[in-house]
Amino acid sequence: MSSTAKEAAKASVTVTLDGTNRSTTLPLLTGTLGPAVADIRKLYGDLGVFTFDPGYGATASCESKITYIDGDAGILLYRGYPIEQLAEKSDFIEVAYLLLEGELPTGTQLADFRKNVTNHTMVHEQLRRFFDGFRRDAHPMAILCGVVGALAAFYHDNLDINDPRQREIAAFRLIAKVPTIAAWAYKYSIGQPFMYPRNDLSYAENFLYMLNAVPAEPYVNNPILSRAMDRILVLHADHEQNASTSTVRLAGSTGANPFACIAAGIAALWGPAHGGANEAVLKMLAEIGTKENIPQFIKEVKDKNSHTKLMGFGHRVYKNFDPRATIMKDTCHEVLAELGIKDSPLLDMAMEMERIALTDDYFIQRKLYPNVDFYSGIILKAMGIPTHMFTVLFAVARTVGWVSQWKELIEDPAQRIGRPRQIYRGAGTRDYVAVDRRS
Ligand code: ACO
Repeated sequence: MSSTAKEAAKASVTVTLDGTNRSTTLPLLTGTLGPAVADIRKLYGDLGVFTFDPGYGATASCESKITYIDGDAGILLYRGYPIEQLAEKSDFIEVAYLLLEGELPTGTQLADFRKNVTNHTMVHEQLRRFFDGFRRDAHPMAILCGVVGALAAFYHDNLDINDPRQREIAAFRLIAKVPTIAAWAYKYSIGQPFMYPRNDLSYAENFLYMLNAVPAEPYVNNPILSRAMDRILVLHADHEQNASTSTVRLAGSTGANPFACIAAGIAALWGPAHGGANEAVLKMLAEIGTKENIPQFIKEVKDKNSHTKLMGFGHRVYKNFDPRATIMKDTCHEVLAELGIKDSPLLDMAMEMERIALTDDYFIQRKLYPNVDFYSGIILKAMGIPTHMFTVLFAVARTVGWVSQWKELIEDPAQRIGRPRQIYRGAGTRDYVAVDRRS
């Protein structure tokens, strides 16, 4: 526990084991914001019992200074700054600095940081060959996961996680190279030549360039679309201890190198309940087909036996509007206007779905609101980005969050290997029976 948390421990929780005279007093820790947290570390030692919290809905797994979410109020802060202000006034590189370093940069710090990230955008030429090993129809998340993990084989010089300088270089390499690998995964899937990064472009512009440019034609940057991409990157940059970030931290707690940890995060992000949701939203809208079919679909969602979810709705922490969804909705309208898409059946369907869901008791009672993925899929589709690239894009944005959380973990003197316990409900102890005596 850090000294701040120690000093904040003013109140306590007393737990008594019913039917015995044993009890223990657990310190109650307070953070800068958010509810108090009971420090249960001595519970097992004092009372011989564990806590049970599958899905970790009531467990703070670490102390962090990076991101804060108030799910009831719909608030998201990066290092204390509201996401709405950052999305409007900042850009992805500045936000990346903020997440990693804790403060907004001065002009010189920002210029240096931008230069450092830009200088690392190319990947080792040998790494190109990895792509040839994948089938053309491989999901780009599979490629991203494999190739990012493989980076560890190229950078033996910065695998010492205990050296701050090596950690810093690994951070630059990951933030800079993941977009290149992501764009190449896409180019590979459509059989087009890989485009090398252009360091005269901004982070978002360069990413769009690597995705969309071809060597045969001049490339024209669209500032509205690159601004939208930058905003998508900012909105997805970090989100506290979600499933993929917790995966990165768990892998990092073993001392694994940063490239392996980020590859683990990419794998966790892939699931449809997490980063795969924006892809799933479009699939869902396509399956529903027309606005007229929405009421029937909503009926199916509410039927316990159907296992159908309204994708892009609901969140473990947000029990009010996801503030990212609100910004995403505005960006969606901007992008469609810029592209001259006046009638978007997808957007119409999404808005109708949102309208129905927000007035339906099932969703109201469960506090289910649109999350960031509900609108991001529509923007990306309008920008010409294919559905199977959506989660890849999310991974590009989240890399800086994962790296910041990994760095914080390594720099935390209290960090130990992550090793949860369990409640065992399997067979009791029994003797081995020879195969000819088994019935
Ligand atoms: N559609 C219909 N019902 C839902 C939805 C949904 N999208 N989400 C939750 N519910 C229902 C559950 O069935 C449950 O109902 P019950 O109380 O009658 O059993 C109740 O709401 C509570 O939901 P939980 O499953 O306990 O919520 P949890 O916190 O475990 O799950 C999650 C959160 C995974 C995001 C869930 O809401 C979901 O699957 N949403 C759809 C997928 C999605 O959009 N994921 C993106 C999340 S944001 C991100 O990763 C960037």
